[in-house]
Amino acid sequence: MTVRRPLIAGNWKMNGLKAEGQGLARDLAQRLNKAGGVDFDLLLCPPFPLISTVVGAVAGSGIAVGGQDCHAKAKGAHTGDVSAPMLADLGCQFVIVGHSERRADHGETDALVKAKAEAALAAGLIAVICVGETEAQRDAGETLAVVSGQLAGSLPTHADSGKVVIAYEPVWAIGTGRVPTTEDVAKVHGALRKDLVGALGADGNGVRLLYGGSVKPDNAAELMALENVDGALVGGASLKAEDFWAIAQSC
Ligand code: G3P
Repeated sequence: MTVRRPLIAGNWKMNGLKAEGQGLARDLAQRLNKAGGVDFDLLLCPPFPLISTVVGAVAGSGIAVGGQDCHAKAKGAHTGDVSAPMLADLGCQFVIVGHSERRADHGETDALVKAKAEAALAAGLIAVICVGETEAQRDAGETLAVVSGQLAGSLPTHADSGKVVIAYEPVWAIGTGRVPTTEDVAKVHGALRKDLVGALGADGNGVRLLYGGSVKPDNAAELMALENVDGALVGGASLKAEDFWAIAQSC
């Protein structure tokens, strides 16, 4: 049986100033240190301006840091953008690509998400690739087709289980307090697992599949107990050390 080490990732989105980010990151590093050995990995994805601060605050703790997006190119005339090599240079190990907020707010397509994921891999980063259906797609019974299509279109050519993480985030569950039933999450994650094995062979069994969308301390345990749920991508609840830590401990 493939053993996948759970990953609990905090996506801070566009929240926090330096002092808050530093305090939150330090608090989590202290909790991890005090806990001794744990059976999960922790990842913090702050906004770009806080990355250096957070990298410094978690240094030596084992907590990884990631960006929330990257450009598909390594450098060039792209005002306001940030490249994957820049993130790696700052001490990031991961980068989120294809979050639904970027797909919606910035019109990101699967092809662009794939190009960003390729850029991440080329820079030595692990790409956390997000997929998820809208409420209308869910109501139309299109969930599996939508997420499978997004995965197929976004997975980099040279993906392997050490280089990519997939996050299933139903758009309608993000920041709403609404969560799919555990049966529905299990169904989607099972389908994504099959797709990954189809694309990567047996190594697809080693890819970590995260669930995201209104994960809170009180619902994390039952979600994390599902067979193909290997961790969580947490938004709102990752902004409070106590809540994020409680979610991690439920793995
Ligand atoms: O990337 C995480 C996110 O979209 C989920 O947000 O606030 O529902 O946990 P939230």
